[in-house]
Parts: sequence; structure tokens; C-alpha cells
Amino acid sequence: MKKEIITLSIGGSLLVPDIPDVEYIKKIAKIFRKHSKKYRFAIVTGGGADARVYARAMRQIYKNEFLADQGAILSTWQNAYLLLAALQEISYKKLPSSFDEAAEALDHNDIVIMGGTIPGTTTDTVAVLLAERIDSKRVINVSNVDAIYTSDPKKDKKAKKIKTMKHIELAKLAAEKDTRKAGENFVFDVLAAKLLTRSGIEGHFVSGNKLDDLEKAITGKKHNGTIVKK
Ligand code: UTP
Repeated sequence: MKKEIITLSIGGSLLVPDIPDVEYIKKIAKIFRKHSKKYRFAIVTGGGADARVYARAMRQIYKNEFLADQGAILSTWQNAYLLLAALQEISYKKLPSSFDEAAEALDHNDIVIMGGTIPGTTTDTVAVLLAERIDSKRVINVSNVDAIYTSDPKKDKKAKKIKTMKHIELAKLAAEKDTRKAGENFVFDVLAAKLLTRSGIEGHFVSGNKLDDLEKAITGKKHNGTIVKK
């Protein structure tokens, strides 16, 4: 029987907070290597600081959101290459430029890593689309926050951590945060939330700064993040 495929959306700011965090990239790669005995991984990397810097510079040079997104997408690819370098021996050797290519590659490789695709979206959406294409039943969103909160805990002292929520509740929360601007942060992209809802794919939101939580999400153990399910 083929190994289960887990899809991950990894926030670019974890891999490249300012400059690439080589130690962190090696550490997270080690987790995928360890668990690749039992699982296959479809990983999408975010753009992080570079994506924001490029999107902002683009807008200053020529005010066009499409171009700002295109600049930011290249940062997601650059970050995907960093992870690919750390997982060379077990990963598909290319960054797929289509979902079909990624699906095909997962038939023969334990790990496939992708960056962004088209303007107007984010790597969260790419991850959920990829999960749909490859029939992955679980998406793990790894970011700088340890879970989904009722409101932004940095701004609101009354913000409460949500342990489990329904897809529709996630979609509502994501819609409230959506600005559709290149390099801006949402809890989870609203389109990604809607796609997760339509397919009923389970979502796990964990902090990339607590790698034991990531491992628990991978192995199906109880973690300290948020679970989104039917
Ligand atoms: P990210 O997915 O990294 O957005 O894409 P983010 O939410 O800012 O994530 P972190 O900070 O890495 O966690 C960065 C930007 O790249 C463009 C968008 O402008 C997005 O905001 N992008 C990315 C696309 O236009 N299409 C894609 O498929 C992916």
C-alpha cells in the first residue's frame, strides 16, 4: 500500500526570517526525512520577508498588484529551493511548475516541494489545491503563530486560542482578515479556507517554532495548535 500523503504549507518567514535560517531549514528537513519512512510529503513554501520586500519595491517602481505578486512568487520559489537542497536525497529533484507534475512526482518520490503559482493568491491556496489534486486528507499549516485565535493576540488581550473549529468557521474568520495585497498576512488565505471547506480536508495549524507540535500533527497525535474538521 502507498504511504499517506501529508500536505504542508510552510510560512516563508520561518525559513527566511530576514536572511535564510540555515540551521532551521536543516532542522525541519530532518523531521521530514525521519517521517518519510511512513508518510509522503507535499510541501509548499511561503515567501517570507523577501516576498514582502519585493512586492513593496515593485509597487514603488510601478503601481501594479499583479506585478507585485509576480515578484513575490519568485521568493516562494527561492525558499522552496532552500528546502529542496536540504532534502535532495529523498525529494523530487525539480520544483513542479504544475499540480499535475507534482502529482506525478509523488508517485515516485517521498517528497515534493512547490512554490507559488499564479498572481492573486498565496501559498496557502497552492497547498490546498495541491492537497485536492493528490487526494491528501490532511493539510498542516506551519507558521509563526501557534494556533488560530478568535482575534489577533498581539492586538487583543481577550483573544482566545481555538482548539478545534469547523471549516465554515475558518472560512468566515479568513474572510474577515482578507485584504488581497501582495505580501500581507492573513490567518489563512480566504480562498485556501474555502477550498479546504469544499473538500472537507482536515486542517492543522501549528507553530513552526515548536517542532514537536509539527511532529505530533504529522503522526496524528494531539498537538497544541488548532484542528479544523467537519
Ligand atoms: P505567501 O504565501 O508566502 O504569503 O506568498 P504570506 O501569507 O505572506 O506568507 P508567509 O509570510 O510566507 O508566511 C507571498 C506573496 O506572494 C504572492 C502573493 O503576493 C503573496 O502575498 N503569491 C504567492 C502569489 O501571488 N501567488 C502564489 O501562488 C503564491
